[in-house]
Amino acid sequence: TYVVNDKCIKCKFTDCVEVCPVDCFYEGENMLVIHPDECIDCGVCEPECPADAIKPDTDQGVERWLELARQYADVWPNITAKKDALPDAEALRDEPGKFEKYFS
Ligand code: SF4
Ligand code: F3S
Repeated sequence: TYVVNDKCIKCKFTDCVEVCPVDCFYEGENMLVIHPDECIDCGVCEPECPADAIKPDTDQGVERWLELARQYADVWPNITAKKDALPDAEALRDEPGKFEKYFS
């Protein structure tokens, strides 16, 4: 599976949802997650994210975000159409520690 990390938090550019062939993105208030059981590992979403928030689960350090996806993918609603990014998306794109500061 591919995994959305904390760079998505407070950004939600949503370019990713437009390209996913199986529509496996789910939307929380501040970020998206990919459903780990639905993702077919095609990889087309990875280069689409302006925040560089999407990584394969073979990358180092994604365990935390994979766990988050498992926790929320069945709870949050499915999102399949692009919409406006969050208001501070550009300003907070490279902000460190976004999970601790903003996740809700
Ligand atoms: Fe969707 Fe492919 Fe990205 Fe998985 S890797 S979330 S199937 S676009
Ligand atoms: Fe988030 Fe990037 Fe998609 S910021 S909503 S993972 S395009």
